Amino acid sequence: MQEAVKIDSGRFQLNRLSPEQHVDSLEEDVYTGLLSRPRSLPPKYFYDERGSKLFDQICQTDEYYLTRAESALLKKHADEIVSTVRPTAIVEYGSGTSEKTELLIQAANQHYDWLHYLPLDVCEEILIESSRRLLDRYPWLSIDAWHGDFLQDMQLFNNSHTRSLYTFLGSSLGNFSYDEASQFLRDVRNTANDDDWFLLGIDLVKDHSILNAAYNDIEGYTAAFNLNLLDVLNQALDGDFNTEKFEHHAFFDIDNSRVEMRLRSCCRQTVTLRDIDLKIEFEDGEHITTEYSRKYTADSIRQLLTSTGFSPEHVYTGDNNEFMLILSRCLKKR
Ligand code: SAH
Ligand code: AVI
Repeated sequence: MQEAVKIDSGRFQLNRLSPEQHVDSLEEDVYTGLLSRPRSLPPKYFYDERGSKLFDQICQTDEYYLTRAESALLKKHADEIVSTVRPTAIVEYGSGTSEKTELLIQAANQHYDWLHYLPLDVCEEILIESSRRLLDRYPWLSIDAWHGDFLQDMQLFNNSHTRSLYTFLGSSLGNFSYDEASQFLRDVRNTANDDDWFLLGIDLVKDHSILNAAYNDIEGYTAAFNLNLLDVLNQALDGDFNTEKFEHHAFFDIDNSRVEMRLRSCCRQTVTLRDIDLKIEFEDGEHITTEYSRKYTADSIRQLLTSTGFSPEHVYTGDNNEFMLILSRCLKKR
């Protein structure tokens, strides 16, 4: 089911993909994730309005190098990327504040005095706030925003523009399992036309102390972001999680090349989610896995792209190989 709501002038449209589904899928994910061992929850529930703001604060910490590294690459290469692709539309999955994409939007303005931007995000508040900021700054821009889940609703999303640059920034692909990443990339390829391009921003394996620090910032924004997930559950399902009785734990898991983020119970406790009549017993030290952040190598990400319908044409990394931007052509559909 898809619902289009016009907000503001003709330059902004908000489309809601399966609006009823969000709470239903939270209930389902709570049953499957919190009742199995090890317990887990999908990371998309981090991003209520507060979670999105906390993520933005994480991006400004000294330790979380990802955003700075990717912004620096975009500042340096946005003109080249836009000159190569010449997009009439930019599509962005998990757009958040759209701050880095703004660099591409500015670069596009060297070529055209109009452009369509199609951000898709699970957090409606951040979609609207970011769209308003962009519309104020760029009167020649039109925005078709999509509220939904990029792992579930991709078939419902449609883009009628002729030459699009699809983007997935911030290393969000790292939050997927291998199967989810393959399926997501195939879905992007199937949504795109043969002449479209795909820009992926991905974090690379590096010194473990740098990775561990990035997910354990000293000011505690990552811890607050992680714990906020319990408040999201409390609000949505009338729960009684006490955030003081859980602690943030994040570490780089070398064998799986990923940072794992957990919420660890500080004592033996029972938590109730009244709306779904569910009681969960936690042992002292028992955890919920809340996020994986896979770190790729140049080879592993290239392989994944080529096996899912893309031809990587331009690869941008900084001097220290911290982060990678890969601009790919779409391989012709068979
Ligand atoms: N691209 C931005 C934001 C990254 S944070 C950047 O690079 O800074 C991840 C973003 O993806 C958040 O805005 C979050 O709301 C969104 N997101 C997470 N899971 C999602 C899902 N399943 N479907 C759609 N959006 C999702
Ligand atoms: C959005 N995503 C790629 C971030 C990451 O690095 O995995 C989310 C995040 N989690 C903790 N800090 C940032």
